[in-house]
Amino acid sequence: MSKTAILEFEGKRYEFPVIEGTEKELAIDIKTLRGTTGMITIDPGYKNTGSCESAITFLDGEKGILRYRGYSIEDLAKDADFLEVAYLLIFGELPSKEELTKFHNDIKHESHVDEEMKKILDGFPKSAHPMGVLSSLTSALVAFNPSSVDVSSEEAMYNSIVRILAKFPVLVAWTMRKKKGLPLDYGDDSLGYVENIHKMMFKRPNKEYTKDKIVIDALDKLLILHADHEQNCSTSTVRIVGSSHAGLFVSLSAGVSALWGPLHGGANQAVLEMLEAIDADGGDTKKYMAKAKDKNDPFRLMGFGHRVYKNFDPRAKIIKKSADEVLGRLGIDDPILDIAKGLEKEALEDKYFVDRKLYPNVDFYSGIIYRALGIPTDMFTVMFALGRLPGWIAQWREMRLKGEPIGRPRQVYIGENLRKFKPVNKR
Ligand code: ACO
Repeated sequence: MSKTAILEFEGKRYEFPVIEGTEKELAIDIKTLRGTTGMITIDPGYKNTGSCESAITFLDGEKGILRYRGYSIEDLAKDADFLEVAYLLIFGELPSKEELTKFHNDIKHESHVDEEMKKILDGFPKSAHPMGVLSSLTSALVAFNPSSVDVSSEEAMYNSIVRILAKFPVLVAWTMRKKKGLPLDYGDDSLGYVENIHKMMFKRPNKEYTKDKIVIDALDKLLILHADHEQNCSTSTVRIVGSSHAGLFVSLSAGVSALWGPLHGGANQAVLEMLEAIDADGGDTKKYMAKAKDKNDPFRLMGFGHRVYKNFDPRAKIIKKSADEVLGRLGIDDPILDIAKGLEKEALEDKYFVDRKLYPNVDFYSGIIYRALGIPTDMFTVMFALGRLPGWIAQWREMRLKGEPIGRPRQVYIGENLRKFKPVNKR
């Protein structure tokens, strides 16, 4: 039997259907609310608002569950590679061997970026934050690939998708190489997708590139763990920009900007800077715990807390284990890892954090691995963007295929009522 919710207001009774998801989540469908009652809902930060029905990612923040298209993040991180996860997220099913080969070949076919793009990159100072550079370059790509905006058919959509999956890693690599003063190279189509990304980022001009399996596997896993996370800030941004039919590349560019903020993807950089500051300050974790709890101090324990997870972020568990493994296998003894573990232990036993259900999130340990892999701190959020790329694409494609209406929230106006205008000489 279909479920309904009743709203009573000023003696009138309104009925709204209740939608049930495949994991038994319930939502009141208020599509007719304004038409029938004249009212809207208000929900700053959208804490209780579902913007869409989606078949891509399921997460249960209370139980610490994360699944892409029904597959658990633990299984995918253990056994899949990033390109198959990208295919799974975007198209809904794991690819057969042939499908994966075709997908990879189509991407390789698009793996060049117009040389003129280098002039745009050249215009940025070396001190520019890589996220700003990446967002600008992603947007600029449209000028060199104007047909990418036209996505009226599935085929056109597919072409735009493989193009960006091919070119975005080049932009990521160029952004980092420019900062390091290294020549802007292209990749090598004979390599795997992630291996090629690694080569593009790290190949020295006068040295043969050698594959390091530990490094590639760690990178692959990190990218998988970041690949999608349903309707978070940057993904919602991608969907809302795309809902105006603005095209995939600019929607993604907006997603990169949204991810940049320290309350979202920028937290991985903030975590490492925080851990370094604690280390430089003598490693006194208790002092920083006290600061985080002091309501008069704006300091927050970066990498702790999450809008949705009120339990362990399952990605944080996997990354913590991976940080131990990677550092061990690379023979790195990093005091920052010990500080992170110390902070985690104290926070998990602290009433303030326990009461507020604040657990380590995906960003708490990821920076430690990135650092071990030789990735500069201000590139961490760029690595997150690289991982999130398939998720953003999948969400954008789902939104376009469903023909969702343009995203346009309403507001409750609380400003001045009509006032009489006075010319400037009479004010
Ligand atoms: N350190 C100290 N206190 C915290 C922290 C923290 N990291 N996070 C939340 N709190 C406290 C708040 O002060 C608030 O306390 P109060 O109830 O006494 O006022 C309570 O916990 C609830 O916090 P909100 O900010 O209301 O929670 P919200 O869901 O809006 O924010 C967020 C979630 C932004 C992630 C927050 O926990 C935070 O700022 N964390 C640090 C930044 C971070 O790690 N961001 C990465 C998130 S994961 C991602 O985007 C990939």
